[in-house]
Amino acid sequence: MSYAIEAEDLRKTFTGKREVKALKGVSFRVEEGTVFGLLGPNGSGKTTAVRVLTTILKPDSGTARVLGHDVTKKGALVRSLIGLAGQYAAVDENLTGRENLVMVGRLNHLDRSVVTQRATELLSQFNLVDAGDRPLKTYSGGMRRRLDLAAALVARPTVLFLDEPTTGLDPQSRNDLWEVIEQLVEGGTSVLLTTQYLEEADRLAKTLVVLDQGRVIAEGTPGELKANLGATVLEVGLNTVDEAGRTGQLLAALGSHQPVVSGTLVEVTVDDGAQAAMAGLRSLDEARIRPVTFTLREPSLDDVFIALTGHKSEEEKEAESAADNARRKNRRRSDERELAEHLPFSEGPQLAEEALGGSGSSSTGDNQ
Ligand SMILES: Nc1ncnc2c1ncn2[C@@H]1O[C@H](COP(=O)(O)OP(=O)(O)OP(=O)(O)O)[C@@H](O)[C@H]1O
Ligand SMILES: [Mg+2]
Repeated sequence: MSYAIEAEDLRKTFTGKREVKALKGVSFRVEEGTVFGLLGPNGSGKTTAVRVLTTILKPDSGTARVLGHDVTKKGALVRSLIGLAGQYAAVDENLTGRENLVMVGRLNHLDRSVVTQRATELLSQFNLVDAGDRPLKTYSGGMRRRLDLAAALVARPTVLFLDEPTTGLDPQSRNDLWEVIEQLVEGGTSVLLTTQYLEEADRLAKTLVVLDQGRVIAEGTPGELKANLGATVLEVGLNTVDEAGRTGQLLAALGSHQPVVSGTLVEVTVDDGAQAAMAGLRSLDEARIRPVTFTLREPSLDDVFIALTGHKSEEEKEAESAADNARRKNRRRSDERELAEHLPFSEGPQLAEEALGGSGSSSTGDNQ
């Protein structure tokens, strides 16, 4: 079997104020003509791996090959075979969409006439015909993403690297982009894409790996990953932390992984959602626990991550503690408002806010 991309024991440590081991021995292979998903939470090393594979960054050790060519020894050749749409678009704000595409083509040593035609073709393929002659600084986020992908395709690369291609896109644009990627692969292109969305990998990728803190913690097909995890997540919200703890113990029998209890929320991954819901409700009822919410949903990458590592990603924890702080602040705000509403003056709310030294707008600002 021939491989479009091979990574063998890639290691990269960033030294600076703080030493970061971004890649701690990452290996994977991507079959030609397939989509490969590189999944992982923030900071797990996805972009670093992409930068090594696309010759932007030298690894400390290990080897990487694209279509059999070593990326450190045959950099120029590799660059002529690949396209890259980075996490942060590498385009010129002041040029129009069309001019950006032409510039990329010229940098790839393509003939002006070939490039002009290719630019027109790509603008139409990515629904950018109307916007094509406007400067990029007038584009929306989604339009930028599409132009960035178009730019990566100007030279008709055999191997395409897409770093979080659909982050920030609305569902329609995301779907359009998925279709474009599928067409490219039908035409023989090999694609490596990084993503935070399991459903994206599920729809597109033939195989994938999950990175965590610079290491591969799981690999296989999306089906294998999900089968491992359980098909559905049962999410139960309770009134108190104590009830959540008891609910966690009661629901442990339903899934193959331990339920995750965070605050008043309990999550458990199960194979048969409907069965688990019935059994779960029955045992809660017997224990006289009344849930506030009771939901079945598809597993997210975060569930996969928790199931694989037994812990939440660092960023997720940070986000949660930020959300907790915001909630606490919010609660304080609504206490203040309640107090204000009970003051016996028509200007009560305002007076009370002044007395409490807060102003509505600055406090909501803090929470965003
Ligand atoms: N140039 C750099 N200098 C120092 N540290 C870096 C550099 N680039 C990345 N890192 C660190 O290496 C780790 C991996 O970063 P990387 O960008 O590869 O993660 P990622 O998986 O792409 O994350 P995200 O989902 O947020 O894009 C992080 O801790 C990051 O802070
Ligand atoms: Mg990244």
